Parts: sequence; structure tokens; C-alpha cells
Amino acid sequence: MEDILWGLIIGFPLGLVLGLSIWCCCCLMNQKTCNTNIKTSLPIQVTGANPGTGANSDSTGTGQDSPRTSGWSIYMIQWLEGLIKRKNVASACGIPNYAFKDLQSATLDFSTIIGKGAFGSVYKAHMETGETVAVKVLGTNSVQGEIEFLTEVVLLGRLHHKNLVNLVGYSTEKGHQHMLVYDYMSNGSLSSHLYDENREPLRWDLRVQIALDVARGLEYLHYGAVPPVLHRDIKSSNILLDHSMRARVADFGLSRQEMMIPHTSKLMGTIGYLDPEYVSTKKFTKKSDVYSFGVLLFELISGRNPQQGLMEYVELAAIDAEGTGGWGEVADTRLDGNFDVKELTVIAALAYKCIINPISGKRPSIRDIVQNLYWTCSRRNQTQNVPDRAEEPCFEFDIPLSHERSFTELER
Ligand SMILES: Nc1ncnc2c1ncn2[C@@H]1O[C@H](COP(=O)(O)OP(=O)(O)OP(=O)(O)O)[C@@H](O)[C@H]1O
Ligand SMILES: [Mg+2]
Repeated sequence: MEDILWGLIIGFPLGLVLGLSIWCCCCLMNQKTCNTNIKTSLPIQVTGANPGTGANSDSTGTGQDSPRTSGWSIYMIQWLEGLIKRKNVASACGIPNYAFKDLQSATLDFSTIIGKGAFGSVYKAHMETGETVAVKVLGTNSVQGEIEFLTEVVLLGRLHHKNLVNLVGYSTEKGHQHMLVYDYMSNGSLSSHLYDENREPLRWDLRVQIALDVARGLEYLHYGAVPPVLHRDIKSSNILLDHSMRARVADFGLSRQEMMIPHTSKLMGTIGYLDPEYVSTKKFTKKSDVYSFGVLLFELISGRNPQQGLMEYVELAAIDAEGTGGWGEVADTRLDGNFDVKELTVIAALAYKCIINPISGKRPSIRDIVQNLYWTCSRRNQTQNVPDRAEEPCFEFDIPLSHERSFTELER
């Protein structure tokens, strides 16, 4: 009896202490998991109430990341960071990692601002080599910005095409903001040409050429890059124009290799350009880029953007087009009637095919679109007997890097 009493006296407090310890451990582990989730779950980025400014309208109301998505994000950040730290990117892609002071002096101590977007500010810079470049400085404290920075370096470092903005360097110096260095596109963004009243209206033939250039850039991403890349943020402010008004696709921060996009991922992109099928299924495909491209085509035709009721306008015009009137009435008034009606009708009908079909599979591929625009351009050039600026459809294939394997492994 005395033994039992002693057992109870010693056993009860011991059990209590043991139980409390186990409970505390569980709580601590739970808290750690929660913290990790908070750190790794990214805000939904549906950018741009105003495509000209690129303002972010982060929303948090459209559902949670699945555990797989969160895991995917943290693995991706760790993997990309590791890659940058080991300087594999620079050596593999051959793009230099600039010292902060070099970019500071090239931008006259960051006084030459040329634009501002969701990512941060962009500065014009004159390098010691004589080159003029654009330096994009990452805003501070943004996990999303960090991912976009790393994505641009890793993806754009290996993608080379005359219709993609060239990444010529980056900077990751400790204690300073991360920066991306691009070829300078002296004619700025397409959106500024379409919507800035101080600029001359874009001529019709230039609009068609720009459409073809963008389509070729996308064709390269979808069919020339190995593995294929989806841009995921095609819009007029992400199309930049060089000194001779040739267009290049910019901003690859949201881009992903096709196989790397988790179907459960949060909505990314810009309001007004988002494929409705992507919005409902969260599955981004090549045809989602095609949808955004269709919106861009209508922007070029009409000089309106989605925030100015572009789609409602198009729907109304489509009723007319199917009846008698054709697409003439959607033409930008700034064109002042200076356009080829037949060409406009062909291109508007093409744009409509990109956006009207709720089943993305029925939309044309970007290859079909390139062919269509190419024939439109070259037919005109032949009839007007002008040198062909359209050139044969072509794209260079890129060489897959050895680290592609890591991407595949992460997917598994
Ligand atoms: N390589 C470049 N050459 C010349 N100007 C550039 C270059 N890159 C960006 N810019 C200018 O900086 C502006 C801001 O670009 P940025 O990509 O940061 O923002 P955005 O495209 O307006 O919006 P978002 O953040 O939604 O992409 C562009 O509109 C353009 O005028
Ligand atoms: Mg941009």
C-alpha cells in the first residue's frame, strides 16, 4: 500500500511534467509551421488598375494556397537564391553581376528616372563601355518582387530573341537593393504611345508591325524556348519599342516554364488581360497568353485599354461585325481614318478569335497568329511595293541549361 502511495506521489507530478512538455512541443511546432506558411504564401498579384502606371492591386480574397503551392514557392526561392549565390547564373548565362557603385555612377546616383512599375523604379544609365541601358531597381521588402527578380535573371538570362527585351546584367550586392539591367528601349512603352496625348498617334502600319513583333516574341517563348515559357503578363505597358519602333516583350517576372506552373497557384497577371478560363480553373496555358494577346490586339486597333471599357466596346462592335458593318467602328479615332479597312477587319476578327472562345483550346495558337499577321504585312508591302519589314516567320531555339534538371526535380 505504501508502495502504491509512493508511486502515486512520484508518478503523478512526473506524468504532469511529461504531458506539459509534450503539449508545449506540439504548440511550438504548430507555430513554426504557421510562420513558414505566412512567410511563403505570396499575395495574389493581379496587377494594374491602370496599365500605364502598373499599380499593384494586391488582393487577398481569392482563396488559399494549397500546401503544395506553398512548398513550391519556398523551394523555388531557395533554389533560385542558391543559384544566384553560387554565381551559377552569371557563368551559365554569361550575364554580368554589376557592382552597385558602377550602376550608381551610370545612373548619376539614381537621378535619371524613366518609369515606375509594381517592381520598382527604372533609370536610364550610361555605362563606361558607352552602352545606354535601363536599370530596374527592386523595391524593398517584397517577397513577390524577390521572386520576380530571380525569375527574370534565371529565365531571361537564357532567352534570346530579337523581340524580347534583352537582360544585360543584374546586381545583387549585399546591403543594396537588387537591380536588373536591360537594353535601353528609347521609344518607351507601347502604352505610352497609345494613351499619352502628348505623343503623336501611332500610324496603322506601325501598329500592325508591332503586333507581329509581339506575336513573334511570344511564339519564341511558346515554341522556341526549351522547355516552353509562358509570359503571363502580356499588356501594352510590357511591350517596349526601340529606336526604330520595333517591339520587344518585356517583364518576365511572372513568367514560368510551362511545366512549372502549379495548377493550384494564386491568380497572377493584370486585370482586364486575364483569360476567364484561367480565372475559373487557375490553370494557365499557352492559350491564356493568347487571350491577353487578343486584348492587346484590340488595344492597338481601338486605342482603348481594358480599364476604359475596351471589352464592352468590342462586344458591341462584334454584333455589328457579324451583321453588316464590319469592324471599322472600333478603329482608334486618333487614326483619323488612315487605315486599311480590309486589314483592320482581318486583324480584329483574329483578335476576336483570341478572346471570344471561353474554351481556350478553340483559340488560335500564337503560331497561327504569327502566320496571319505576317501575311497581312507582306501582302500590304507587296501591293505598296515597299521593302518587306515583316520578314519570314522565324525564331531561334535556345539551349537548355544543365540546371533545367533541378526545375524538373522540384516539380516532382
Ligand atoms: N528597357 C527599358 N528601356 C526603356 N524604358 C524602360 C525599360 N524598361 C522599363 N522602361 C520604362 O519604365 C516603365 C516602367 O516599367 P515597369 O515594367 O517597371 O512598369 P510597368 O510595365 O509600367 O508596370 P508593371 O509593373 O505592371 O509591369 C515602362 O513603362 C517604360 O516606360
Ligand atoms: Mg512592366
